[in-house]
Parts: sequence; structure tokens; C-alpha cells
Amino acid sequence: MKNIPLAYSLDDVLLRPRFSKIKSRLDTDIFMPLTQHYSLAVPIVATNMSTITEYEMAKTMARLGGAGMIHRFLSIPAEEEIVRKLKWDNISPIIASIGILDEDRERAHSLVDAGVNILLIDVAHAHSEQTIEQLKYIKGKHNVDVIVGNVATGTAVEDLIAAGADAIRVGIGGGSRCTTRTVTGHGIPNLTSLLEAVEARNAYFDATKIYIPIIIDGGIKNSGDIVKALYFGADVASLGYLLAGTDETPGELVKNGDGIFKKYYGMASKEAQAEKGSIKKGIAPEGFSELVPYQGPVESIIENLVGGIRSGLSYSGANDIKRLREIGEPILLTSAGQAESKIN
Ligand code: XMP
Repeated sequence: MKNIPLAYSLDDVLLRPRFSKIKSRLDTDIFMPLTQHYSLAVPIVATNMSTITEYEMAKTMARLGGAGMIHRFLSIPAEEEIVRKLKWDNISPIIASIGILDEDRERAHSLVDAGVNILLIDVAHAHSEQTIEQLKYIKGKHNVDVIVGNVATGTAVEDLIAAGADAIRVGIGGGSRCTTRTVTGHGIPNLTSLLEAVEARNAYFDATKIYIPIIIDGGIKNSGDIVKALYFGADVASLGYLLAGTDETPGELVKNGDGIFKKYYGMASKEAQAEKGSIKKGIAPEGFSELVPYQGPVESIIENLVGGIRSGLSYSGANDIKRLREIGEPILLTSAGQAESKIN
């Protein structure tokens, strides 16, 4: 048993405050690469869940400097229509999701015709033969960047980069509405999977000078988590829960005696399966549904997160994320330190 490795979560670490010459948070630059050919002024994407990102979210996130990734739990014409509308609005990059089935190849064709810039091959466990075949097919057929996810290990990142991925999304089992770890007994705490992914990406960069961005996903609870993830080598954070319940998410407001809410559910939950038409026999749900408090416009949430990220850079005395990675000093916490940090 002594060889079983220990794995860490972002909650296990903090960055040491350092001497700073930064005069204002506005002197910081948080521009980051999203894929090989696209960058974002704000390193945040709204995740591709049916309770988070359709037209309104994608349009608003782009205006705020980030991006929204259209989910794939829509008919092909409906997803294509959203991409067309975003194109008319001159939004770039437009990101839309497909799965790994044969019918998703048709989806990819339609989305590319509609003007998508980036396809996200979205699957719960992307380190698989089927995913790699899909990735090679899409890259062979279309001139678009492709993000692939989710994975949790360095070998998965190596294999997906070798198969042509232009960015990789990392995180298995850490999502706020996710029960993968309890249902399947599999997953890796997010800091350790990020570290593995970044090590594999950096080794590829050293060998080829080709930089493949890493998108951290699942379980991001606050701007501090984003700052820590950026320090450890993530390029962009993918958010669900933090953006749930905002005006721009799909779905109706729910008013009851306790207040105003919106629904937020995992894409592998019973609710999401029902939305797709039927609850399949023999497939255990790996997500759940909850009402989340109504949060108003997503703009105020993004403004707060961006303010937190910029402030985080100034606590390390770094004017951008490249510098943060050079000079930041992580520390490992005890459970008393976690409690003192008010991690819940
Ligand atoms: P947060 O914590 O931001 O996480 O709400 C969003 C991410 O959670 C993943 N996701 C799921 N994971 N079962 C899972 O195991 C699900 O039903 C599910 N739905 C979403 C997904 O990666 C998303 O970006």
C-alpha cells in the first residue's frame, strides 16, 4: 500500500503573499490562450451544460472578454441556429460541442457550415479509443480548432495531443453537480490532475514549441481557485456552478416561499437524461439537480471574478500570469489551515 500516491485538491494549497510593486489591479494583464489559435482577454469560459450555455450566455461572455461553449443536448438544427446567430453578431471565437458518436460527425459538419470556430469534443471520460478516433476524424475533415475533454491524467493529455487536440479540458469527478466519484470510484482531485496535465503539456512544448492550452473544469468555487489554477499551469477556467442562476442561463425562474431560483443540473443526471427523451436502462446517473438562487446578470459575477484574479496577481507581485507562474510560491495547507481559510 505504501506506493499509493497522494492526490491534492486546489483547496489544499494557497499562494504566499509576496512583495509587490503593482500600483493598481488595473496594471495586470490576464489575456490567455484558449486553444492553439484563439485567446481570451478574460480566461473564463461558461461550460457546455444545458442549464448554463446557449445563445445569451455565449453572446454575453464574449462581450465580457471570455467565451461560452454551446452544449450539445440540442437537436442539430437548434445548435446550428445558435452558432449562426452568434456569427451574425460577429462573435469570435464561437465554440460548440459535439459527442463521440457517428451522428456527431453530422453535427460537426453542420456546426462548421454555420461558422463555428472551435469544436469541443465533450465526453465524460475522454481518454478512450472512440474519442481519439473522433478527434482524428474531425481534424482530418475540418479546418477548426478542437478542444477535447474531460480527462484527468498526464497520459491522457499526451495521447490527445498526439491525436491533434488544440486544447484539453481537465477534471473528472470534481463538478459541483457531479457524482462520478461516488458512483464509479474513479476520479482525481483537481490539483493533481491539473499538475499531471500541465507536466505533459509542458514536455510537449519543450519538444515542439507548440503550446496546447489546458482548461480546468469542475469544482471551481471562487476567484481564488482560478488564481491558483492559473499559477499551476491552467490557461482558462471552465465554470458551471459559479454562473448558474444568472439571467443569461437557459431555463425559467422558479419562485417559491424561499425566494427566486433557477434549475442547475448535471448533464449525466436523471433530469438531463429525461430532457434527452428517455432515461436509459442500465445507465446509472452521475449527476444531480438542484435549485440555485437567482443571481441577476452574469456581468456582475464575471466582474467580481476578474477583480479577484487581478487582485490575486498583485498579492504575488505579478503583472501577468506568465510572471505569476515564475515567481508564485505555493504552500500546502493542513486541515486547520483549510478551516482558517474558510474552505467549505
Ligand atoms: P461546476 O463545479 O462548475 O462543474 O458546476 C461543471 C462541470 O461539471 C461537469 N459535469 C458533470 N460531471 N456528472 C459529472 O460527473 C454530471 O452529470 C455532470 N454535468 C456536468 C462538467 O465537466 C461541467 O463542466
